[in-house]
Amino acid sequence: MTGTVRDATAATDRPLRDLISIEDLDTDDVTRILDTAEQLLPIADRRRNSVPTLRGRVVCNLFLEDSTRTRLSFDLAAKRLSAEVINFSASGSSVSKGESFKDTALTLDAMGVDCVVVRSRSSGAPLQLASYLDTPILNAGDGWHQHPTQALLDVFTMRRHLGDLTGRRVVIVGDVLHSRVARSEVQALRLLGAHVTLVAPPTLLPPAVAGWGVGVADRLDDALVDADVVYALRVQRERMHRAFFPSSREYARLWGLTVDRVERMRPDALVMHPGPMNRGVEITGDVADSPRAVITEQVTNGIAVRMACLYLLLAGAATHTEEPR
Ligand code: NCD
Repeated sequence: MTGTVRDATAATDRPLRDLISIEDLDTDDVTRILDTAEQLLPIADRRRNSVPTLRGRVVCNLFLEDSTRTRLSFDLAAKRLSAEVINFSASGSSVSKGESFKDTALTLDAMGVDCVVVRSRSSGAPLQLASYLDTPILNAGDGWHQHPTQALLDVFTMRRHLGDLTGRRVVIVGDVLHSRVARSEVQALRLLGAHVTLVAPPTLLPPAVAGWGVGVADRLDDALVDADVVYALRVQRERMHRAFFPSSREYARLWGLTVDRVERMRPDALVMHPGPMNRGVEITGDVADSPRAVITEQVTNGIAVRMACLYLLLAGAATHTEEPR
């Protein structure tokens, strides 16, 4: 390792092998990732130049579902650490010709890939990939299941503004049912001691929510009053095969973040969204562009957090080459 990043894998820390679900992490793991990201932020936001830390390593972005920001973010994260990046997307690859997932995995392995970042429509695809490969697997979102780096970049952003998250109140509003972000977010926030309240149309709350260890509120206005953060989820239309709410207008009226609503929040409360936003549905343009929204900061922080994940996974892993560890 170069001296650029302090050794974040001290002897007492267990090495991270894969990053598939927040469920696999404990509070120390999350803290270690966030502390590493803090050190890497000046490189992520370009106050400092790229570092040679992962020179000679090959990171494969295996994107089997559409994505713009997450793919670009992983791409930049790997490049700022000087890794080589290869991109493999569903269209234009032999996956669209019917090649099995296992064969794709074996092909990547034979090409000497050191880490696979995988995004898939199917919940469980990253875990399946990990069963075929010894190289570290990083989940960039699988079905409705998990999106661990999104949750990590979100808690990183909250921690930068609010400090220790113990006892902080976070309201997550919207389409919880279809949201891998909500599932990961709740777990990450609970590991850091925050209180989470979910607000959603009853049709968009998963039946299992009782076991999530969170509060559930019917009315957004009541939930917002003492919140430190309100996190709006995207309405996931592509995952809705029936009507879950009467209309977008009705949704915006009851569950949307409007200026009136947000003004009733504490003056220092943050507004967050994972992107891409449906302006005028879950959040109005005025709120999205207001000073209390930290949505573009989330994007920049995402590069630092993904750099930290790549660094921590690859620092502890065997390499195909004998390049610097
Ligand atoms: C999220 C996703 O794909 O799960 N977006 C993202 O990673 N950029 C959230 C969403 O699509 O609603």
